[in-house]
Amino acid sequence: MANSSLSFETRSVRGGASSSCDAAVVEPLVQSTTYAQPTIGARVAHTYSRASNPTVSALEARLASLEAAPFAVAFASGLAAETALFLACLRASDHLVCAQAVYGGTTRLVREFLIPLGIRASFVDARKPDEVARAVTDRTRLIFVETPSNPTLELVDIVALSRVAAAAGVLFAVDNTFLTAALQQPLELGADLSLYSTTKHVEGHNTATGGAIVLRDAALAERLRFVRKSLGAIQKPFDAWLTLRGIATLPLRLRAHSAAALRIAEWLESRPDVARVFYPGLRSHPDFDLAQRQHAGAHGGVLAFELKCSSTGIAFMNSLRLAIRAESLGAVETLVTHPASMTHADVPPLERAQIGISDGLVRLSVGLESAEDLIADLEQALRTASASEREEVVPCRAV
Ligand SMILES: Cc1ncc(COP(=O)(O)O)c(C=O)c1O
Repeated sequence: MANSSLSFETRSVRGGASSSCDAAVVEPLVQSTTYAQPTIGARVAHTYSRASNPTVSALEARLASLEAAPFAVAFASGLAAETALFLACLRASDHLVCAQAVYGGTTRLVREFLIPLGIRASFVDARKPDEVARAVTDRTRLIFVETPSNPTLELVDIVALSRVAAAAGVLFAVDNTFLTAALQQPLELGADLSLYSTTKHVEGHNTATGGAIVLRDAALAERLRFVRKSLGAIQKPFDAWLTLRGIATLPLRLRAHSAAALRIAEWLESRPDVARVFYPGLRSHPDFDLAQRQHAGAHGGVLAFELKCSSTGIAFMNSLRLAIRAESLGAVETLVTHPASMTHADVPPLERAQIGISDGLVRLSVGLESAEDLIADLEQALRTASASEREEVVPCRAV
């Protein structure tokens, strides 16, 4: 069932064709690695689970239906999806235009692996369509952005950049991990590909690692499946099954995460010990107007804030009792990260500073606990961090 006239909620529970013809209400989990072939040369749906698997196909059909797209390809992780995309589109001496403000692992993949293979890359401020257009050369094959970005929640205007990409005849991919199709529809806004770390909100329960690319182009979908088979980067069936189960509650969870994140962001803005709060649902966000146009009525569960005294970042992190210090985001548990020493530790310090990642920056992925309990936890950690700063000999560095 892929009918795009059905509401997003209905498609989250029922969208996409089921892999099997039996009467199971819940998609069966098929763990088989191989499939009997009735006769040599007969056309069969699946031959070997590194190439395709019925449970993975059911997940792909569900993901595609969420964006009313004909194709989705599921991978072992978000980074496996990115690797497959880059290898599918780029060869030596081709050129990639990549937003500066992307997940640290994306930057690492480009710098440590693509560039040494002879692929050229420009990192640009993707908030400025003119800068993106200027970076495009006759060898550019792909523009890659993330919006909202990790971890400073900057927004990229998808409509404006899709025009730049179309004028230049290059592919345009949007990492939609932070908002998911529940709150942002990149293909509808003109992008060619939506990319996900499904490890985050899509699965939503911190129990499965995965990635996916949703797209309309049949030839590119085929090429992505071919790269996936060649790399061995397909998602595991059990992870696909868990992800399917998570998607059923995606719209509900995203609404709840967003409401709590907005409440916490507003509270943080009122604190004297917080210099800045980054959340696209706040009027103070530089792209508040774009967020109203681009997001479907809510702005996701992730926010970031900068402590006035950046040297207290670690003390603040270590004082939290309810929010869990852990990598990742987008699940039912509230997770908190210190990007400078965790997700973006591989990004050189100077570059970290350029993309706004100071030692006082904290990223919060708001889970489904009560917002009031989380605020109480943040409050006690802010108090403890301020006390630790008063005890230090070195005065607070200005942010
Ligand atoms: C925005 C974004 N894209 C991609 C990834 C990579 O996903 P995975 O960890 O599933 O490989 C992450 C991981 O944190 C992310 O935050």
